[in-house]
Amino acid sequence: MSEAVSRARQWVATSWGSPDHWQFVDHDVPAPEQGKVSIRVFAAGVNPADAKHVAAVRPDMELPVPIGYEVSGEISAIGPDTRIGSGAVDVGDEVIAFRVRGGYATEVTVPAEKVFAKPSTLTHPEAANLLLVGTTAAEMLAVTGAAPGETILLHGASGAVGVSVLQQARLRGIRVVGTASESRFDEVRRFGGLPVHYGLGLATRVRALAVGPIAAALDAVGTGEAVDASLELVGDRRRIVTIAAADRARTDGILAIAGSMPESARFRDEVRSELIALAQNGDLVVPVARTFPLSEARAAHRLLATGHPGGKLALIP
Ligand SMILES: NC(=O)c1ccc[n+]([C@@H]2O[C@H](COP(=O)([O-])OP(=O)(O)OC[C@H]3O[C@@H](n4cnc5c(N)ncnc54)[C@H](OP(=O)(O)O)[C@@H]3O)[C@@H](O)[C@H]2O)c1
Repeated sequence: MSEAVSRARQWVATSWGSPDHWQFVDHDVPAPEQGKVSIRVFAAGVNPADAKHVAAVRPDMELPVPIGYEVSGEISAIGPDTRIGSGAVDVGDEVIAFRVRGGYATEVTVPAEKVFAKPSTLTHPEAANLLLVGTTAAEMLAVTGAAPGETILLHGASGAVGVSVLQQARLRGIRVVGTASESRFDEVRRFGGLPVHYGLGLATRVRALAVGPIAAALDAVGTGEAVDASLELVGDRRRIVTIAAADRARTDGILAIAGSMPESARFRDEVRSELIALAQNGDLVVPVARTFPLSEARAAHRLLATGHPGGKLALIP
């Protein structure tokens, strides 16, 4: 059953550039047509991609661009004969949505197949941040062929993607040597990783820490140092992946993945249900460092841009 048009607030990029170019505007939430649902947003996940994707001119996109790829909230309206990704749904059900547009909103209408029952074990700020980093982490492990018993190197182990990689690797019996600032070593250990600080001499320190060879390297940082250390430690370039240095992937023949690539999109769509089940069982958690009121999206991105947010951030309408 759908409801009438309602009014909501939403962040949109009205010109290309930093979050200073975003506007917090009123927008219409139309009654959802078949195959769509409306969600009253309780938390919007904050990801670097939200800002990166509108930072420079995009010929494939038209302004204004609604910001935000993932949310957690409750169903406020349902299109006729419509089921969500996880099955039947009622108004008031708690859900998460991922790979949507315009999640930085009080309410948003999205394709129903991108919506799933929210894991009851996670709070809304945690649930709103589960899938973008979770699916990215799963794909990094998959494309490098990381296997049980192997030791891998993870750049950015204390970051949002890194913490998800650590947990998914531990579940599969993969050992991880992970880079972080010393102040974040306990976070890396908490999820089963062996922490090592980044900076001069990184490859030597990793060699000293690892038991046996480094089978693969997963880069969630994108610095020259991260890629160089990966190349030094892993002979097979098809077992090195970056999510933040696409230029080095082109010049050095290592793998790069991104949600905008069709193969990545397919993989990430397929793995969503598995990650939600892991979260529901308590096997995958999402450490949230801080929440901000939705109106303070720019402040959240200023913290994210430091490169050391200390966990995930969420916006609360
Ligand atoms: N291609 C994709 O599909 C995809 C998907 C998701 C994210 N990403 C990208 O992946 C990157 C990480 O995302 P995230 O959400 O995990 O970010 P995040 O939570 O902000 O984590 C940043 C990580 O980088 C580390 N770091 C900061 N400066 C560093 C430096 N100079 N050298 C080495 N490590 C450094 C931080 O370590 P400490 O805080 O311990 O110092 C932390 O582990 C971002 O660039 C993001 O845009 C790409």
